[in-house]
Amino acid sequence: MIDRGLQFSHQLPQTAGADRVTSDVRSSGQALRNQAQHLVSGDLLRVQQLLRKATGSRFDVVQRLSEHALALGGKQLRPTLALLAARAVAGPEGLPDSQQGLPDGQHSDLLAAAAAVELVHTASLVHDDVMDDAQTRRHQPSVGRVAGTHAAVLSGDFLFTRAYGLAAKCRSGYAARQLARASTALCEGELRQQAAVECWELTTAEYRSVLRQKTGALCGVSCLLGGWAAGAASSTLRALRRYGAELGVAFQIVDDWLDYWGTEEVGKTLGTDLAQRKPTLPLLRALRTGTDANRRQLRVALEVQGPPDLDTVRTLIERSDAEQYTLAMARRCVTSATDALTILPDSAAKNALLAVAQFSVQRSA
Ligand code: IPE
Ligand code: IPE
Ligand code: MG
Ligand code: MG
Repeated sequence: MIDRGLQFSHQLPQTAGADRVTSDVRSSGQALRNQAQHLVSGDLLRVQQLLRKATGSRFDVVQRLSEHALALGGKQLRPTLALLAARAVAGPEGLPDSQQGLPDGQHSDLLAAAAAVELVHTASLVHDDVMDDAQTRRHQPSVGRVAGTHAAVLSGDFLFTRAYGLAAKCRSGYAARQLARASTALCEGELRQQAAVECWELTTAEYRSVLRQKTGALCGVSCLLGGWAAGAASSTLRALRRYGAELGVAFQIVDDWLDYWGTEEVGKTLGTDLAQRKPTLPLLRALRTGTDANRRQLRVALEVQGPPDLDTVRTLIERSDAEQYTLAMARRCVTSATDALTILPDSAAKNALLAVAQFSVQRSA
């Protein structure tokens, strides 16, 4: 009865459309799958089952919106990090197929933690799309577009609470505490970025500090919890968190690059950073190092009423070294991420983690 009061402005995608979309996502995430996910494919499937279970609701409206948010699954980067970190801790032999080598309790902690980080991520995307007024996510209409922003905010809240419920199922409170800490950082980072709208004087250090919070923290805790579930020593846990955090910053810097130079393969609304006047590295760098004339033109382009023109701003950015500088900074973060892994013994899982780090700067989606 109550559900009828919620008008969906777009039909949720039907199965046929979803199949087509899924194959798009598959092709864009293929590199990650080939390089890393095959090692943990069995557990990734278990994580997806857990996600479906954890987001179920007896109320149709809630169920439909969380299904929609989860529908295509995305690249599953964060659970992949957790599962690979667990496997890498086990050393050269690795674990037998799909972590089954872990005692039952540890294995279920691992799956719960991997699903919980993905849920926090998905919840944050639902909210992020509201703030960015983004119409498309994972090649389909965003939750806000199908159900309106009010329902999207509440639906994101629902996913957040289910994430903590899942983490709380782990046998110690450690996982829930660490996840809460990373989620707090994520929210602080998003809020700080929101507060920095039109702040064209933002320093590179401040920009990176926001990225460490909004993206680095969750990637870091994904690796940390994977290692924790597998029983890693505290020095290894610190290294795994550092690897994940650096990788997350690299990933977000490239995401900010994609926001200017990405193609439809990305499957989400691009250009939102500029439309929302968010100061990300490409623009910050161009405003700082371009010629006087270029910088003046950029300022004029930014001072218009309504969203600045993306083509104009992109062309002006391209007249500076900002694009190369942005990608070079992402590569430096990848180097720091891979350096952090020297503590781990060589193994297929460690190689996969190294490949994920490379993927974070070579991706197109
Ligand atoms: C998007 O993350 C948000 C960022 C932190 C840049 P992903 O690119 O991992 O999103 P999905 O889960 O694959 O859709
Ligand atoms: C937000 O960053 C990612 C989060 C940490 C929630 P973006 O706004 O750049 O993410 P996309 O580009 O919409 O995926
Ligand atoms: Mg966004
Ligand atoms: Mg982005």
